[in-house]
Amino acid sequence: MTPLIEAAAVGEDAYSHAEATVAGEPASLVLIRVEGQVRAWHNVCPHAGRRLDWAPGRFLVDKAGHLVCAAHGASFRRADGLCVAGPCKGQSLVAVAVEERDGQVWLAD
Ligand code: FES
Repeated sequence: MTPLIEAAAVGEDAYSHAEATVAGEPASLVLIRVEGQVRAWHNVCPHAGRRLDWAPGRFLVDKAGHLVCAAHGASFRRADGLCVAGPCKGQSLVAVAVEERDGQVWLAD
């Protein structure tokens, strides 16, 4: 199994990006660390299915630390990926289970 990303590359302030195969399909993931724990979601906005980043691996963040979709500005809470403002308010990003070990982040079994 291949690690997604080095654990040290996933910080509390900036969103990170990784490519993976999830359920047999290629996937783009967005990751962040919240209270020490790495969280990961598919890099797909629930509004119109667009990528969240404005360039590969480059994510917008507002003053509250929300992830902001580059397409139409939906804002997602870092703790749980819930959309708190914008055209898909109340919907959530699709979470991907990950685990951190040996200095790397891996897809969870
Ligand atoms: S696709 Fe993200 S807000 Fe429209």
